[in-house]
Amino acid sequence: MGSLSVSTHRGLVHWQGLLLVVSLLNFWSQPTTTQVTVESINALEGTDVLLRILYKPPNVAGLIWYRGYSTENNRIIASLTVKSRIHKRGLQVGRVKLNYDGSLMLKNVTMKDSGIYTLVIRLQDCTSTTESTRLTVYPLLRAPTLLASNTTVTANKDAVVMTCQTNAHAIHWLFNGTNLQLTERMKLSLDLRNLTIDPVLREDAGDYQCNTFNPMNSAKSASLALDVKFE
Ligand SMILES: *[C@@H]1O[C@H](CO)[C@@H](O)[C@H](O)[C@H]1NC(C)=O
Ligand SMILES: *[C@@H]1O[C@H](CO)[C@@H](O)[C@H](O)[C@H]1NC(C)=O
Ligand SMILES: *[C@@H]1O[C@H](CO)[C@@H](O)[C@H](O)[C@H]1NC(C)=O
Ligand SMILES: *[C@@H]1O[C@H](CO)[C@@H](O)[C@H](O)[C@H]1NC(C)=O
Repeated sequence: MGSLSVSTHRGLVHWQGLLLVVSLLNFWSQPTTTQVTVESINALEGTDVLLRILYKPPNVAGLIWYRGYSTENNRIIASLTVKSRIHKRGLQVGRVKLNYDGSLMLKNVTMKDSGIYTLVIRLQDCTSTTESTRLTVYPLLRAPTLLASNTTVTANKDAVVMTCQTNAHAIHWLFNGTNLQLTERMKLSLDLRNLTIDPVLREDAGDYQCNTFNPMNSAKSASLALDVKFE
């Protein structure tokens, strides 16, 4: 593995992949933690996430990003030593990019990237600060499919079961474009995916949709028209 000298004139340096440059690991042993900050970030699956440094003290000697709260060497994602030269090393090559300002870019995140990221900043006086980020990656939701046991039913006689086909756990039901008001004739299954109306009345005629959501996005089914005949 060839070593690479990188100028500290940061503006002139281009990122060249995670550089497996040996840094002074001994230098990092037994840091004296003086500060802990935790930030929470939500992100959508498939996007790029920037883990910023929340508090950057002056006189930084170097920094290390870890996966999880643990600061074991085998949890190191990437590190950077600021002295006469900047040295970077990292374990997860590819989707991870350590910027020269110390921030960590995670590209095209998946749910597996959810969790804690800990940054230890070593200062020139040999103390250090520690901060952690909790990343939660939410799935990109696809529109659910709404099915009904029967879309043409008879008032005061028939029942109807509508099924929202989705893997999502958070579901809203909509009737004519607004939140469905449940009546005593309506029952939602525990998983919220089945709506039973028994018996159906004329006032139930209209357009039904189910809407799945998480903190980062939502997706609605096509609307399903329930036609109610009366005798
Ligand atoms: C992002 O990751 C997914 C798999 O998680 C992959 O299918 C897709 O091609 C990636 N997109 C880019 C732009 O790298
Ligand atoms: C749907 O309900 C209508 C009216 O009650 C009935 O005539 C029809 O047979 C039902 N269709 C199915 C597939 O159950
Ligand atoms: C929802 O309805 C479908 C179709 O009628 C049925 O197969 C399924 O068991 C129901 N699920 C629940 C949780 O009631
Ligand atoms: C719902 O929409 C249907 C079709 O547009 C309409 O006939 C019905 O009166 C509406 N029902 C309510 C309660 O708004």
